[in-house]
Amino acid sequence: MTRTLTLLGIESSCDDTAAAVVRHRPGHLAEVLASDIVGQTSLHAAFGGVVPEIAARAHVERLDGCIERALAEAGISFADLDAIAVTAGPGLIGGVLSGAMMAKGLAAGLGLPLVAVNHLAGHALTPRLTDGIAFPYLMLLVSGGHCQYLRVDGPDEFHRLGGTIDDAPGEAFDKIAKLLALPQPGGPSVEAEAALGDARRFDFPRPLLDRPGCDLSFSGLKTAVLRTRDALIASKGGITAQDRRDLCAGFQAAVADVLAEKTRRALAMTALDGSPLAVLAVAGGVAANKAIRARLETVCSANGVSFLAPPLRLCTDNAAMIAWAGIERFRLGMVDDATFTARPRWPLDARAPGMIGSGKKGAKA
Ligand code: KG4
Ligand code: ZN
Repeated sequence: MTRTLTLLGIESSCDDTAAAVVRHRPGHLAEVLASDIVGQTSLHAAFGGVVPEIAARAHVERLDGCIERALAEAGISFADLDAIAVTAGPGLIGGVLSGAMMAKGLAAGLGLPLVAVNHLAGHALTPRLTDGIAFPYLMLLVSGGHCQYLRVDGPDEFHRLGGTIDDAPGEAFDKIAKLLALPQPGGPSVEAEAALGDARRFDFPRPLLDRPGCDLSFSGLKTAVLRTRDALIASKGGITAQDRRDLCAGFQAAVADVLAEKTRRALAMTALDGSPLAVLAVAGGVAANKAIRARLETVCSANGVSFLAPPLRLCTDNAAMIAWAGIERFRLGMVDDATFTARPRWPLDARAPGMIGSGKKGAKA
């Protein structure tokens, strides 16, 4: 299919309600005509994590407003759409259902085709939306809910090389912030403290480096920080501002070391005829961390690989990535009907061994 396509994307799998309009003319970079996102941080703040029922209700209340704003900002009406793409999983099931029901209703009412999109595919295909890169490439998803290495071979061809067996790294940053009484989301607060700390003062573990492959684990590291904090409190009756900075710096250095080494391995695992894939792309909020990003860039340049980090607004949760993944699928004739089911778990690579655990933001697939 070679005509220009305009799709509405809908995303509601976690704690962001989002709608976007993306237009694509073959041979050109796609245009994000509008991307409306309403976050829910304040609704969940008192609970120390995302409360699925509150999230689902907020999505139901906000989706129509998001869609209206996205269409208005794009300067189009429903009649200009070629199809509707919606996140069908993985994620918090109430949220996924809210978006899926909205999309099914709209598609039925407007007589438009539906495209059910895997949220992780949305993240994984974003470098093609922003930079038009060719397949195959290596993708590292690092956010509050996801952590995996994927070789992306096509719009529906993903090979999972490894991922977390417990917490996602963003989740670990959030938990460290919580145990050190720093504001949420934890990533930016911990990074700011770490910048003033001594990363060598505490010797935190680098989990799973002793095991081959590129699976990751962050839960033991979090426990090590907790124990060190408790030991400081027991010996001195509390922790100083400098203790806190050093704990953050030590933790962040451990995460950065692990991600750098596992990325080096993932590049080696995906090497074809001895040369690695041309591009490592990252997505997810943790990719905003300057120390981690610098380490990933170093690994890439040492291996002759380009490092690509899409703008943060498109590499954290958004609906433009869902509209784009919808366009990629629609062009291949992959459309769905109103019988598709919302899925709390939906691994991108069905052949890869299942993952353990489910974080505060839902299933990590
Ligand atoms: O991709 P994202 O917006 O949402 C999902 O989790 O899907 O990622 C949010 C996560 C949070 O856990 C947040 O603490 C983390 O990304 N994060 C960071 C930084 N900025 C955000 N982690 C480390 N360093 C940062 N600068
Ligand atoms: Zn996500």
